[in-house]
Amino acid sequence: MATPPLILGNWKMNLNRKKTGDLAVGLKNSLHDLGSGVTVAVAPSMPYLDAVGKLIEGSPIKLAAQNIFWEPRGAYTGEVSGPMLLELGCSYAIIGHSERRIYLHETDQIVRKKVRHAMDSGITPVLCVGETFEQRQQGNKDVVIMKQIQEALTGIVPSEKAKIMIAYEPVWAIGTGQACDPKEARETTEVIRSALVDLYQQHIADENFIMMYGGSVDESNVSSYVDNESICGVIVGGASSVLEKFLGIIFAVA
Ligand code: 13P
Repeated sequence: MATPPLILGNWKMNLNRKKTGDLAVGLKNSLHDLGSGVTVAVAPSMPYLDAVGKLIEGSPIKLAAQNIFWEPRGAYTGEVSGPMLLELGCSYAIIGHSERRIYLHETDQIVRKKVRHAMDSGITPVLCVGETFEQRQQGNKDVVIMKQIQEALTGIVPSEKAKIMIAYEPVWAIGTGQACDPKEARETTEVIRSALVDLYQQHIADENFIMMYGGSVDESNVSSYVDNESICGVIVGGASSVLEKFLGIIFAVA
């Protein structure tokens, strides 16, 4: 059966405790009749995961983490493991977001360890890939993305039960209001699919990976991305932290 599109709100480090709680409650109150045509998930800041998990209990909204570590436990100051996230009710973990690659120097090797650990923990990885403006200008977009895919996924085998979401998030489109042309976003998912075919048997590449788009998604453009074929979900940053805007996006897809 086809998986419904995922709309994932990445609240980044933008909201304090009060605003996070208010937004979670607002979403819960508005989405009780959501139906099965779309999946909505929210990724609050780590300290608020537990509280948000409780606030959305009994609603169709799912919980996601903005990050994950790669070991289940141990002396890793400041890190959070898959089993801990699972305990809090997380279904998804965003991995390899460009903000972490840029500011925290996360490499493709680190990203791979995190993808593996998320899967071992029963958490669905949302693996982010995307080129910078300079890489795009230099005509290196496809090469950059294929390398990110190959290095993040070598040795990792998804299954029908443990799928991997891959979000194409061009760095230049994040938080800029300059969303990627939907046609180009679709073409890029083809590039990603061709990288997957180098790594996996065709049926695994076809069936166990789900493509998403992220970068300046809003109410007016979301429908042009989500076609349930090449792109089956979006990650929303800025617009997901304003209740009316996020609801507008959700209802446009649902
Ligand atoms: P914006 O929607 O603010 O462009 O952010 C996208 C993003 O980074 C989602 O992970």
